Amino acid sequence: AAENGLNAWLRYAPIPNAQNYSASLPSSIVSLNSTETSPVYTAGTELQNGIQGIFGKRLSISHANGTTSSSIVVGTVDEYAKTGGSVQGIPELDEDGFWLSSKGGNVQILGENERGALYGAFEYLSMLAQGNLSSVAYATNPNAPVRWVNQWDNLDGSIERGYGGPSIFFENGTIVNDLTRAGDYARLLASVRVNAVVVNNVNANSTLLSTRNIQGLGRIADAFRPYGVRLGISLDFASPMDFGGLPTYDPLDPSVIAFWTNVTNQIYETVPDMAGYLVKANSEGQAGPLTYNRTLSQGGNLFAKALQPHGGIVMFRAFVYNMLNESDWKADRANAAVQFFKDLDGQFDDNVVVQIKYGPIDFQVREPTSPLFANLLNTSTAIELEVAQEYLGQQCHLVYLPPLWKTVLDFDLRVNNQSSLVRNIISGKRFNRPLGGSAAVVNVGTNTTWLGSHLAMSNLYAYGRLAWDPAQDPQSILQDWIRLTFSLDNEVIDTITQMSMESWPAYESYSGNLGIQTLTDILYTHFGPNPASQDNNGYGQWTRADHLTIGMDRTVSNGTGFSGQYPPEIYEMYENIETTPDNLLLWFHHVNYTQRLQSGQTVIQHFYDAHYSGADTAQTFVPLWESLEGKVDTERYNDVLFRQTYQAGHSIVWRDAINNYYYNLSGIPDEANRVGNH
Ligand code: GCU
Repeated sequence: AAENGLNAWLRYAPIPNAQNYSASLPSSIVSLNSTETSPVYTAGTELQNGIQGIFGKRLSISHANGTTSSSIVVGTVDEYAKTGGSVQGIPELDEDGFWLSSKGGNVQILGENERGALYGAFEYLSMLAQGNLSSVAYATNPNAPVRWVNQWDNLDGSIERGYGGPSIFFENGTIVNDLTRAGDYARLLASVRVNAVVVNNVNANSTLLSTRNIQGLGRIADAFRPYGVRLGISLDFASPMDFGGLPTYDPLDPSVIAFWTNVTNQIYETVPDMAGYLVKANSEGQAGPLTYNRTLSQGGNLFAKALQPHGGIVMFRAFVYNMLNESDWKADRANAAVQFFKDLDGQFDDNVVVQIKYGPIDFQVREPTSPLFANLLNTSTAIELEVAQEYLGQQCHLVYLPPLWKTVLDFDLRVNNQSSLVRNIISGKRFNRPLGGSAAVVNVGTNTTWLGSHLAMSNLYAYGRLAWDPAQDPQSILQDWIRLTFSLDNEVIDTITQMSMESWPAYESYSGNLGIQTLTDILYTHFGPNPASQDNNGYGQWTRADHLTIGMDRTVSNGTGFSGQYPPEIYEMYENIETTPDNLLLWFHHVNYTQRLQSGQTVIQHFYDAHYSGADTAQTFVPLWESLEGKVDTERYNDVLFRQTYQAGHSIVWRDAINNYYYNLSGIPDEANRVGNH
């Protein structure tokens, strides 16, 4: 039964009336590579297993393209042409792209490269598993080359902000012996076209660079390789000192440069296809170039130069900020990224990508789009999302995240008064950049559900789908996932769709709304309500709530000036209270609790009402889920029921904690008389 969790959306469950289709299926598979570690070989066996699961029919596999009728051919376009296949009508493909045709008896699954061919096989299987046997012929290409996930795994096996058990990669300071789960993970990721995994925490440990650990990384890369997933690692900037025994880690010091060149060469000997490095420098206590009065770009380029001969890239994180003092009205952590990075635009080497969290603070339930995307016109950028629900219920609450991500991906920053959607900036198209894309912090663990919750896996699935094509609709992605994960039954699809699509608005309503941030405890757990923790701290993610007023004044005219980091059209919208959308009002403006929203409601009454309606919605998830009893296997049914019951209760804790807190602070009664002591 654990198989259902482990296989997630790749179960290949039998479809209703499968025997009726069996005759119309091709009778064999031709996989145009006989090397077992190649993604094309993997594609062949995946097709064989998938079709057997879905239709109960076992197709034979061969590796030479002799067959012309009634076969599924999978390989690269080039290999197909070399073996005599006709590639007429197949458009030019981008890296990792593929062509899928099921017209005319034969199925052609042809990738620009081997990875693309495997993606095509997964796409074809996804259609079949959803009962879709229609004839198709199309090519698809990725929005961007970087489609990575970041694991925040520590070498001792713990995972920072991980809620699905210990690491599948590390234990006791080194790489685990049995990497079966690493291969299984790569399989899931490849099926949604993720092409690299950074396996260790951004708060990195330099002992990863020991000879023994580099050998272990080689084994992880071996486990990934048949799926076309590449290995990446996070680096500790101070490694030359901490690990190399040098007196310095100054990025311009020749001994430091030699250290990184050697380390990099050594890793590439073991992992010739390593994707690259992820670097968190001068952030939250991590070492970095600023210690030596060098710029962040000099820091990033240090690694870029070591990687360049090997074709690797540096993902350099923009999450850099200093501790601040709340008594300074103009202090604002949201300003930090642009302040640190804007002047470095154009100074990063071509194989550096600046990785930017979607909002200026830190994975909150709602944030405006990071203005850094509009300030780097000569630098490749990637968006950083978080599948791990750090501030968002930590997988104990159902929160389907793509609608939140889409508020950023689809946001038009209007750079130079022209259409500048974030998704077109990260693809490199808007500013003509060679690189770009996305990364998501995922933090799966050894739990057989991967993330600790069956329903949370929709976020991982959808992340990959959106990284490939961010223009897709979150609800239709979700429904593919439901069909693949649970059932083709309409009631199952409708019910899980309803719960999932209502989940982010509900969570926002019963946690922090109107742009005030999530209101979780931010000092320790990042879980559960603790609005008081948002102020009187040095982290700078404040609410500035007192007995009369609430919100951060981020205007240019009277506040921190953050709104001025946006291009003019966006700046004007946020600078003015009348044009700021209600859902970001308290992000940009400091107002009385009695301030009227565009909706006509006051701020405080909106707080009260939203917390009730959000918690009410969470209550409905329990009976909704219960209506599926018998339609979902008992183990997953019970697991999800347990989580939904928890969420229903915890949403009431949230509702009452937040409402009472602001009632006590403001003394303003709830019009409906629900809040406070009566
Ligand atoms: C958050 C998170 C940290 C993490 C940091 C980061 O602040 O709580 O655990 O290290 O983000 O993204 O680097």
